Amino acid sequence: MSLPILQAKSLNKNFGGLRAVGQVTFDVDPLGVTSIIGPNGAGKTTLFNLLSGLYIPDEGQLLMGGEDITQLDPVARLSRGMARSFQITNLFFDLTVEQNLQLASQKLESWPKLFYATSKSPATLERAQELLEEFHLEAKKDEPAGALSHGEQRRLEIAVTMALRPKILLLDEPTQGMSSGDTQETSQLIAQLAKNVTILLIEHDVELVMDLSKHVIVMAQGEKIAEGNPRDVRSNPIVQTAYFGDAA
Ligand SMILES: Nc1ncnc2c1ncn2[C@@H]1O[C@H](COP(=O)(O)OP(=O)(O)OP(=O)(O)O)[C@@H](O)[C@H]1O
Ligand SMILES: [Mg+2]
Repeated sequence: MSLPILQAKSLNKNFGGLRAVGQVTFDVDPLGVTSIIGPNGAGKTTLFNLLSGLYIPDEGQLLMGGEDITQLDPVARLSRGMARSFQITNLFFDLTVEQNLQLASQKLESWPKLFYATSKSPATLERAQELLEEFHLEAKKDEPAGALSHGEQRRLEIAVTMALRPKILLLDEPTQGMSSGDTQETSQLIAQLAKNVTILLIEHDVELVMDLSKHVIVMAQGEKIAEGNPRDVRSNPIVQTAYFGDAA
């Protein structure tokens, strides 16, 4: 067994009297897709905010590759190889696709070229070009991000999160609001990426989760109520009651 890339130990986060995340413990093993599912308001996004450093937990500990990162801010976590996307599209809509990718890649440039204009930074330009190709966005490179279809915007967003070659990628509902064609395409993209980067995925589309994931964590009302391989999770009576209802 390889060392988990991420370990959450008894994480807690309260908002006033509301326990949004309570006593959540789990490991994420390297590579492949680990998914977090659960009904609306279960605490999934709050958990991501704890993992990515947007929030510091009230209690509990978070380890990345064995290192305690509980108190580190998002930039420090990014420099250790953790990247995330947001539930709401998070791009510079007025900038072109290529410019969005260049901005995201800037930190790859070495000193002192880090202070060059983006358009003169070789590492930045090269990485943006690679991403345009890898994510099939070359034909759209000069279009403003705001002019892309919803599916293309989410693809660009994933490309942006991959710019600094993270080790672990946190994706919060990447298929939200997508057509079934775009969902299918995104699913294939995630499966492809997961060969080289560990993916932690929040997703409402149960079929997609069952197809993609090697491990599924189920949350309800702030707590982890089950985890395991997709088949076991799906047939777990606690999960069926809390989440799948009659649809399982
Ligand atoms: N910043 C905040 N301040 C106060 N309450 C919050 C805050 N963020 C989340 N909550 C509350 O915490 C609970 C968990 O919310 P969270 O957004 O983590 O759920 P979720 O599982 O991501 O839901 P969804 O599936 O709808 O995205 C909810 O009751 C929510 O209203
Ligand atoms: Mg959410």
